Amino acid sequence: MQKKWWHSSVIYQIYPRSFQDSDGDGIGDIQGIIQRLSHLAELGIDAIWLSPVYRSPNDDNGYDISDYQAISPDFGTMDDMDMLIQKAKELGIRILMDLVVNHTSDEHAWFIESRKSKDNEYRDYYIWRDGKNNEAPNELTSIFSGSAWELDEQTNQYYLHLYSKKQPDLNWENPKVRNEIWQMMNFWLDKGIGGFRMDVIDLIGKVPDELITGNGPMLHTYLKEMHQKTFGKRDVLTVGETWGVTTDDAKLFSSPERDELSMVFQFEHIGLDEQPGKPKWDTKPLNFIALKQVFTKWQLALDGDGWNSLFWNNHDIPRIVSNWGDDSPQYRKVAAKMFATFLHFLKGTPYIYQGEEIGLTNTPIASIEEVNDIESINMYNERLQQGYSKKEILQAINKKGRDNARRPIPWDGSLNGGFTTGTPWLALNPNYKELNVKNDQEDDESVFNYYKTLIRLRKEHELIVWGEYKELLPNDPQLFVYERSYKGETWLVIINFYQEPTFYKDEDRKVDTIIISNYEDSSEKIDDLTLRAFESIVFKLK
Ligand code: NOJ
Repeated sequence: MQKKWWHSSVIYQIYPRSFQDSDGDGIGDIQGIIQRLSHLAELGIDAIWLSPVYRSPNDDNGYDISDYQAISPDFGTMDDMDMLIQKAKELGIRILMDLVVNHTSDEHAWFIESRKSKDNEYRDYYIWRDGKNNEAPNELTSIFSGSAWELDEQTNQYYLHLYSKKQPDLNWENPKVRNEIWQMMNFWLDKGIGGFRMDVIDLIGKVPDELITGNGPMLHTYLKEMHQKTFGKRDVLTVGETWGVTTDDAKLFSSPERDELSMVFQFEHIGLDEQPGKPKWDTKPLNFIALKQVFTKWQLALDGDGWNSLFWNNHDIPRIVSNWGDDSPQYRKVAAKMFATFLHFLKGTPYIYQGEEIGLTNTPIASIEEVNDIESINMYNERLQQGYSKKEILQAINKKGRDNARRPIPWDGSLNGGFTTGTPWLALNPNYKELNVKNDQEDDESVFNYYKTLIRLRKEHELIVWGEYKELLPNDPQLFVYERSYKGETWLVIINFYQEPTFYKDEDRKVDTIIISNYEDSSEKIDDLTLRAFESIVFKLK
């Protein structure tokens, strides 16, 4: 496989509303990111995936775009954006833009035109259908609750919105739409960006009349066209968000000879605490053996053909240390480091979501008044009508709600964590006085320093990037154990996923040295090893 910069990179995701405010309006912005670039350079990351900063009415916090080539005044100006690209470049950091082209905002000029009349030249930029018997054209539902069809009274037709009704789906069958998108992508590529993260890209080939949304028949044709018309000849990273992808699909997206994407985000591990076929809110306990199976399946399936992305967190997913770990003061740090170790020695490109590098936790809420996220609010209203109790619904939001990941970053223990001098758009986690970047960095055993070391190790050891993966003890109910081997060297990764101590025995092999561990005094005795709460050790073997 031809080696690319992104094979050995670590990517850091910024959710700009919550990263750093520079002008006191309570909303993070681009100048705020520039102020904090030194934090990211110190961490050692190679690229930033920047969640949307485009002009947007913010129905879905920027994932509803009204102008792809303008910056939202909340975040600054195009000059600020150019400055960010330049300043980051000086530090060796590339910027990946968030490409949200399954849908636009209903306030995008194209949709404003489209809805005016059936013969408007922009009508076919979107998906319009007649109703059936005074109802929606079919039973497709929106991911944000309710029907995916909205009646527009001006023309008495329905338009499709797989997300909110302020996020009408673009009609990718229309070549004019595709050309507009290629032109817009090239506008950004010409600015020297490092690539794109592609929002729900597996939906663009949809056939709504046949109830097909994900993985539609034209999906890969469109992606090949995109590759050819935009980034194909440029040295960029492209990562597609693909919720329902199988390993075979992922190869179609990411095999280099197919000329589509660098890699995709697959969510099979994330869904393991959900019930198949039910909304994400209806959770079930995590099955650890299944978790290991999923990781191993992906590691093996994409080995040598395609490429994995590796992540626990993003702006849609609750904080992993709270959800599947332990965020009590006693265990939060070792648990956060355990998750980091688990992931960062696998084969693929790791993504760190802002705040993960200090082990930030979820923020439980007691009332819907505290919620900003449209997905949670819509679900709350829908389930209240269906007879669920408020308590049940709030429990589900605390477990799976997206605001958990969207709280502003606490930089220090001062008012509002140094995030803003104004009123934050979403309250910080009340634990910010203790749990913040400054405190973490001053701590000898900080999660930040641990991540820093993980990133440095990846730069120093090709084994982490290219080594062969092999799982040991797949049926162990508590340990995740795997080897990575490269050019005659083998590393052994042993993870105790739980708080209870456990044992590991390997009498055949000898340890050369400990590469990293989340306890200072981890033992080298793999012939009789006790692993304490969440203890995770990476050994180089003799
Ligand atoms: C996926 C994004 O990650 C999420 O935040 C957004 O709400 C939907 N796509 C719609 O754009």
